[in-house]
Amino acid sequence: MSIKLKISIQKNTKKNYFIYIDEEFNDNWIKLIQNKKYSKHFLLTDQNIYKLYKDFIVDLEHKLNINPKIIVLKTGEKNKHLKNTYEVYEALIKQGIDRKSVILSLGGGVVGDFAGFIASTILRGVSLIQIPTTLLAMVDSSIGGKVAVNLNIGKNMVGTFYQPDIVFCNINFLKTLPEKEWICGLAEIFKHSLLDKKTYLSLKKVILEESHYKEWNTKTWQKIIYESIKVKANIVSKDEKESHLRAVLNLGHTVAHAIESLTNYQKFSHGEAVSRGLVTALILSKKKLNFSESLFKEIINLMMLLKLPLNTAGFSEKNIWKHIQYDKKNQYDKIRYIYLKDIGKPVYNFELSREEFELGWKEQKQLFG
Ligand SMILES: NC(=O)c1ccc[n+]([C@@H]2O[C@H](COP(=O)([O-])OP(=O)(O)OC[C@H]3O[C@@H](n4cnc5c(N)ncnc54)[C@H](O)[C@@H]3O)[C@@H](O)[C@H]2O)c1
Repeated sequence: MSIKLKISIQKNTKKNYFIYIDEEFNDNWIKLIQNKKYSKHFLLTDQNIYKLYKDFIVDLEHKLNINPKIIVLKTGEKNKHLKNTYEVYEALIKQGIDRKSVILSLGGGVVGDFAGFIASTILRGVSLIQIPTTLLAMVDSSIGGKVAVNLNIGKNMVGTFYQPDIVFCNINFLKTLPEKEWICGLAEIFKHSLLDKKTYLSLKKVILEESHYKEWNTKTWQKIIYESIKVKANIVSKDEKESHLRAVLNLGHTVAHAIESLTNYQKFSHGEAVSRGLVTALILSKKKLNFSESLFKEIINLMMLLKLPLNTAGFSEKNIWKHIQYDKKNQYDKIRYIYLKDIGKPVYNFELSREEFELGWKEQKQLFG
């Protein structure tokens, strides 16, 4: 049965929309799209998804009369680039896109961000429906309306805030998810749980009582995904454009971005970097805000059970610090860092000093290598 969750953006765009979570892409979902009475439906996906889900796409094409408006993007982060937008804008315009059209984005965060950026800019904005196919896209990138493309000098450098009309999470897509992609979603799910006590307790119960996450059944996944999305949706509802509260979603990401940029986004997945960054955030929170030592140990145990990496990946504090200084959240040359007073109690406008960071990083190295 579909679980439905409403997201109400309270300021700026003031848009309300629903996120549906189910174990299939059911006919009710098709009806929900048809009820919107879009003039034309366009579908953007990537080569992997196109190959794996040809039958599903053909079915969708048939039911929504999409044919021949499917655009298949090359797979991978490097293709989420501004230079690839031109060709897609032209293809859509040649195929007669108009302001009442909708773009359906079928894929992971790369397709979602790219398609969302196109939808938000072509003809000054057409409708967007997100159909995420990775765990990360279901719990994170398809939710909240951040869409962007990369430049050669950095990731997500050109973007907008653009909310979709609907998000459909079909858990069945996860059956084909490559091994290394799971960790990306799990790290964000874990991060969301640290921002909300009830979600944390629920996730803790599942981790401790059930087997390895690969054996969690569909009902469990539906619940985990629902609860995780709810944390993000609540935050985004209150602060769509990250003027204050939304910054807490960057918990663990300051160090994660440094690790990713130090390795040219090649060696570690985003999730592997975020997981390590979460450990740093917890250690620094112990030192600065007396985050409980016993809770720290409990969290580390849960992360270990999920097989999330905890170590410093061999980086020196000096190197990480250098890259932290380029972080986008830094304002007026000060490093703004997200700490936790307790689970569900993030603090988002404290400064991080070099000395403080170095002590924390050394402790992480001592504890986890
Ligand atoms: N907009 C946001 O708020 C936000 C938040 C977090 C991340 N992001 C962005 O998301 C992107 C990463 O997204 P991602 O982790 O989903 O990576 P991705 O989109 O690159 O997908 C990972 C890989 O899995 C494949 N794939 C996708 N679904 C599949 C499935 N069901 N079965 C088999 N293979 C499948 C893809 O083709 C790709 O090769 C980054 O560009 C990041 O910047 C955006």
